[in-house]
Amino acid sequence: MQDKYLNAIVVGRRALTDRITEILIAAQDGRALPPAEAGSHIELRFGGEDGRFLRHYSVVGALTAGSAPEPFWRIAVQRENRARGSAFIHGNFVVGTHLRVSRPLNAFRLMRHRPKTLLIAGGIGITPIFAMARSLDARHENFSAVYVGLERATMAYVDELETLCGDRLSVVQTEYDGIPDLKALLAKQPEGAQVYVCGPGGMIEALVAAAAELGWAPDRIRYEVFNAAHSPEDEGFEVRLKDGMTIPIGAGMTILDALEARGVETYADCRRGECGLCTTAVIACDGELDHRDHFFSDEDKAEGRQMTICCSRIRGRVLELDI
Ligand code: FES
Repeated sequence: MQDKYLNAIVVGRRALTDRITEILIAAQDGRALPPAEAGSHIELRFGGEDGRFLRHYSVVGALTAGSAPEPFWRIAVQRENRARGSAFIHGNFVVGTHLRVSRPLNAFRLMRHRPKTLLIAGGIGITPIFAMARSLDARHENFSAVYVGLERATMAYVDELETLCGDRLSVVQTEYDGIPDLKALLAKQPEGAQVYVCGPGGMIEALVAAAAELGWAPDRIRYEVFNAAHSPEDEGFEVRLKDGMTIPIGAGMTILDALEARGVETYADCRRGECGLCTTAVIACDGELDHRDHFFSDEDKAEGRQMTICCSRIRGRVLELDI
């Protein structure tokens, strides 16, 4: 568990928009960092000695085509209203801040040699999509990108992405252009086109529904939901295990993170409610299960027998799990 993380230090910080701050992270001992391939993310553990927050951020990488690998990991953090982890980063991270960081993990891997790749980013979902655009460009693959945001001033890296992609990029400012017609966008893609999307849950659901209406195979849409595991309204609760152990789950932590921190054996891969590997049977809950995954069907969720502990929570005080 310990060697999953390395000691790291903040080596740069700049504001990208009113709500988005870029943070550059390097190894504390100055050693070269493991490479982060397009779509990968790192786990940050921060907030005091006990690392009270754990958050996942995509590694953006270099902002220009053809650049050498950077000696740091570049992430962009959006401050969510009243959210604890991102607010802590915005309020406390400065050059010299120490933290613990995992090696890059990739649950959003870019496939090669597709007839065409369509990248879609919504808001802060640009971070993995930027890395994918740079990778596809470097490999001279056929791709286009759509970047959707409220308006340019709120959209991180929009100038850099325009420079990188040229006319392969469409920027949609919903404030002026309205919501994009995702079904029409998919309908004009060539046979065999592969789509990667990262953005708010509603956007991803709309895209998946549009693809289904067009008869696309589900695996032609690969997605990553931003921040499914955390919301400003989250409150702490308690998890009870079969051996009687009780583990407090802070508002800023997932059940999975808390169990891991206590050395409980768990399984997980994507950590974003997509793969189902962390699925755990529920014995009892004194409130309501708050399912945040994209793995279970609506029927499964309504039954409430299982939950994905990497992102789902409860609205209540005590949850008993079959662990
Ligand atoms: S680890 Fe993939 S759904 Fe939880």
